[in-house]
Amino acid sequence: MRIANILVIAAVLVPLLGSAADKGHKSTLLQYDKQIDGIISQMTLDEKVNMLHAKFMFVSDGIERLGIADIKYADGPFGIREEMQPKGWAGLGWETDKATFFPTGSALAATWSPEMAYKYGTGMAREARLRGKDMILGPAINIQRIPTGGRTYEYLSEDPFLSSRLAVGYTKGVQDNGAAVCLKHYALNNQENNRGTVNVIIGERAMREIYLPPFRAAVEEADAYGVMSAYNKVNGFWCAENDLLLHKILRQEWGFGGMVISDWGGTHSTVGSIKSGLNVEMPDQKYLGQALIDSVKAGKVSEEIINQRVREILRVRLAIKPIPAEKANKEMTSQPAQQKIAYEVASKSIVLLKNEGVLPLKLENKPVIAVIGANATQIMASGGLGAGVKTLYEVTPLEGLKNRIGDKAEIIFAKGYEPVTSRWGRKTPEQLEKEKQEKELTTQKLTNEALELAAKAKVILFIGGDNRSVETEGSDRKDIFLPSGQDELIRKIAEVNPNIVTVLTSGAPNDLNVVNKVSKALLISWFNGTEGGNALADVLVGNISPSGRLPFTIPVKLEDSPAYALGNYPQGKKNADVFANLVSETDPAVKSQIKKEETPKADPNNALYSEESLVGYRWFDTKKVPVMYPFGSGLTYTTFKYANLKTDKEKYGKNDVIILTVELKNTGKIAADEVAQVYVHRINPKVEWPQKELKAFSRVPLNPGESKTLKLEIPVENLRFWNEKIHKWDDDLCKIELMVGASAGDIKLKKEVTLK
Ligand code: BGC
Repeated sequence: MRIANILVIAAVLVPLLGSAADKGHKSTLLQYDKQIDGIISQMTLDEKVNMLHAKFMFVSDGIERLGIADIKYADGPFGIREEMQPKGWAGLGWETDKATFFPTGSALAATWSPEMAYKYGTGMAREARLRGKDMILGPAINIQRIPTGGRTYEYLSEDPFLSSRLAVGYTKGVQDNGAAVCLKHYALNNQENNRGTVNVIIGERAMREIYLPPFRAAVEEADAYGVMSAYNKVNGFWCAENDLLLHKILRQEWGFGGMVISDWGGTHSTVGSIKSGLNVEMPDQKYLGQALIDSVKAGKVSEEIINQRVREILRVRLAIKPIPAEKANKEMTSQPAQQKIAYEVASKSIVLLKNEGVLPLKLENKPVIAVIGANATQIMASGGLGAGVKTLYEVTPLEGLKNRIGDKAEIIFAKGYEPVTSRWGRKTPEQLEKEKQEKELTTQKLTNEALELAAKAKVILFIGGDNRSVETEGSDRKDIFLPSGQDELIRKIAEVNPNIVTVLTSGAPNDLNVVNKVSKALLISWFNGTEGGNALADVLVGNISPSGRLPFTIPVKLEDSPAYALGNYPQGKKNADVFANLVSETDPAVKSQIKKEETPKADPNNALYSEESLVGYRWFDTKKVPVMYPFGSGLTYTTFKYANLKTDKEKYGKNDVIILTVELKNTGKIAADEVAQVYVHRINPKVEWPQKELKAFSRVPLNPGESKTLKLEIPVENLRFWNEKIHKWDDDLCKIELMVGASAGDIKLKKEVTLK
């Protein structure tokens, strides 16, 4: 970062500080500062700098001489990564480092349960501690901006409120159990294509209202100890040296007291990074090693700054007690208590989208059930690039069915299609042609087998979807169609036997046009962890009622989704004028954040977020674009009745809390959980708003016939907007409509109140 730029930004953004600490968070980590002063006073410059970069792939240095232990990182976010070689990406081949594979982010989010997120964090922390780790590289809480995003399965939701509640739960669960979190990837890492070069061009309001809230909530409400800076740039500055994000917002406004580590290989400078607030360069020492010592000696970085960065690391080190080497790795990482949590999360995450009376499965007279689809036996703990768990075990859907009803049904299986395997590696044209011919033959053979089985069965369980080679870190999907010709296969199956229940084990939205039409029931069962197959079988046979709700919208077609509809993604197609206009219309403060010499232009490395806050359902609702399945939707095996929506008052001041009550009754014959959702629509606002926004929700278990009165709260301050003119949160005191429903597309009750 050039000095001139720092000055421009500092001048423009000083007012931002004014909005600081709306909540006045003070990190508990500050309690260690006195003790830390004593430690720092004994350290040499070399020792200090030694703490500011990697020692090994997943370790950064302490100070042995002073009894300060190294910091050991456990890659997450959905299971503790196997023990790695100190300087490479290969595992060490241990036996005891087999961990529990927890359901991935979108599955956790589909529970709509902060309590589940808390338990999840508890389980992750216990396994991290068994392995002697201090900081878990998770939760991954970027907003799911594009349905094709390679890491949608790791991230939580398209909605900031749902993401925030879960991020807080996960963080508290981890940190209450002795480990630190590392919130990632801060910020705006919403695509994988070009993630290491892309520059996100975004206005302040969308950034504050949509993309930053999960990070803010986990810092302010759960005192998160760690943050990982993202690979990308935001408005011209790399995230690892982004003064606005790291210094002004994270530390000064939100009161973050912990340490920021770079994403692996995501550091780009010495002076800029250290001054903006990066604490540890991972997994190298290219910029924060000797180069930093040289910069201090040359007077470009003061020792005060070095001390501050060291202090922030030491705070975390003192808060998290190191585990002595002789105590770590004594037991198998995965243990029954954590496996139980994985089951519980999975069992609450499965989303039933359609059911024409075929579920729960009827098992009289030992029916023949044909399980068709390679996803029935596909392992989801690893595959593709990036996050993966060397899991102790993973119950696949086919195994789950055999476990639960192997004696009550005749289960027959056909693979149906050849699953996608790794997309990495290059092939010659001859190899490709040969593969194509072989594939045609296999496809024919697999289809025939599937059709034969289908003809014999009473019911077909088509188990398809993506897998970890399809949804992967490092690249986005090109489309959202079911891979491996699944649409064609299921069409053919339907001609032979229309009694189809489709289960998709995907972590992100798929195009459902074909499967939805030909299936009598349709479920999403995610990349659902160690116990995923058992949970799915329990739902299919009715041992439990499905109770997951979509954490994202499933569009009719990919092109309807906002970044695609506006031509913002994929980048490169975009007309240069659009960029020019955006920049000329943008508020001066934002404009000046954009590096002068990098005026945005049509370039695959410029990601324009001109949809602003209209992400996910906010776009579909506001623009009245029909969807396949709305955000928040999911059926159960029972029915619920919503009645008597009341508020404690009719008029609310800006510091009040709106208290809503609503009666919910299970009017069916089976126990089930309902997720009541409260959206807010503004009636006569002074600024533009999305048609509606999720502001409260509650997951409630109800026995048959049982009624409960739910109490939900919305602090009026949570209805503020980010005013780009004054760079502060501002009130839009207007009439609002409170909409209570079972999804963004199924509002049951409404009530108007006034904000004054
Ligand atoms: C990912 C991070 C991960 C790190 C270490 C990076 O490529 O973006 O999420 O924690 O690698 O494995």
